[in-house]
Amino acid sequence: MSKYIIAGGNKIHGTLNIKGAKNSILPLMAASLLNESINIIHNVPLIADVYTMIDILRSIGCKVELDDHDLIIDSSILTSNEINEVYVKKMRSSIIVLGAMISRLEHVKIYEPGGCAIGKRPIDLHLKSLRRLGVKIDEGEIIDCERKDIIGKDIILETPSVGATENIILASVKAKGKTRIYNAAKEPEIEDLQNYLNKMGARVIGAGTDFIEIEGVKKLDKVEHTVIPDRIAIGTYMVASALTGGTLEVDRIIRSHIDPINNLLIKSGCDINYTQEGLILKAPQNIKSLNFVKTDIHPNFPTDMQAQLMSLMTLADGETVFYETIFENRFMHCSELNKMRAKTEVINPHVCRVEGVKKLYGSETKCPDLRGGAALILAALVGEGESIISDIHHVERGYEDIEKILKNLGADIKKA
Ligand code: UD1
Repeated sequence: MSKYIIAGGNKIHGTLNIKGAKNSILPLMAASLLNESINIIHNVPLIADVYTMIDILRSIGCKVELDDHDLIIDSSILTSNEINEVYVKKMRSSIIVLGAMISRLEHVKIYEPGGCAIGKRPIDLHLKSLRRLGVKIDEGEIIDCERKDIIGKDIILETPSVGATENIILASVKAKGKTRIYNAAKEPEIEDLQNYLNKMGARVIGAGTDFIEIEGVKKLDKVEHTVIPDRIAIGTYMVASALTGGTLEVDRIIRSHIDPINNLLIKSGCDINYTQEGLILKAPQNIKSLNFVKTDIHPNFPTDMQAQLMSLMTLADGETVFYETIFENRFMHCSELNKMRAKTEVINPHVCRVEGVKKLYGSETKCPDLRGGAALILAALVGEGESIISDIHHVERGYEDIEKILKNLGADIKKA
């Protein structure tokens, strides 16, 4: 099992060339099943989850080529209707292929993804919505789905689930009639999915708002698309610079996507200036405590940045209470940060109090999950002495070459 060894204290300083969003590329790859044609996607992040999705698409018959950061998926012929258990266990978001597969095939089988480290993460809303569209579903260890026609319907989501919204869109694009999603998730990655599908000839409007309308079409065409920049990866590297006293230029951002993160970084004392396509962040002299941080659905502060922002707050000039509203077990990084002499206290599964300290100290820690692992790397970059961080496979699921990127930006980091 690989580890990162980090000697803290170096400034994270320079220019970041950002790749596409993890949470965008996965649904785009699933959407590629719909057109029975060629899909060309640029700016693909080379992360473990993308490789898993490539394996999934190949396992059901797609021809997939990856050339540097360009992906070509030929979905003309499918040879299987089943997603193997191995993939679903490896990557929970494999469930995102279900909507597209059931649109394409009359009978589909996929394994139940089960819970995950950060919370229960049920898929009840995905399945309830597909049933409403006319899919018969037998639920057990295997989820067995059968349908004749998919008929457009009105669907009201009880919770604005990102994955369920995407699965409904994917299942409805070629349905008979109109599907309307009320209380849809508004995350930027759903807008990217809408743009991708509409370039194929789909008729989806409203993504980015809580009401999405999909008018079914009979046929879709080939498509070429560039993935939106990864707002969470950008935020993570910005915190790295903010913590270490550096200046970071990011080459490409979409302002409305990154604003919920930037608003809090600015409050914490960072100076952020926008360039033509990107931004420049200058670290604060003293990190100001944010008092209260609440994660919520877009356009509020994203749960996927909670752990990284917490690392910043461990060195702030006062106390910050974090209120995590999306997941019920997303504070696993706290006890690891405390090994570095941070002062965090988990009050209950949704609330954690952080008291800023003057210094963090290198220690041996374990990545509990993807973003929690990123938070430990950030803390190690500023901690005095050496940190050894294990279980880094979690981080590699979502960050391309994080070790190389941080090294290029000045970090003393190696993988062993
Ligand atoms: C996506 C993101 C993830 C992010 C999350 C919230 C991807 C690949 N992953 O995950 O990085 O943290 O959005 O922004 O895009 N829920 C149900 N029933 C369901 C579905 C969800 O109760 O059928 C609940 C979940 O348990 C959770 C909440 O809804 O508490 C939000 O989950 P959801 O928006 O579905 O997250 P994901 O799509 O899994």
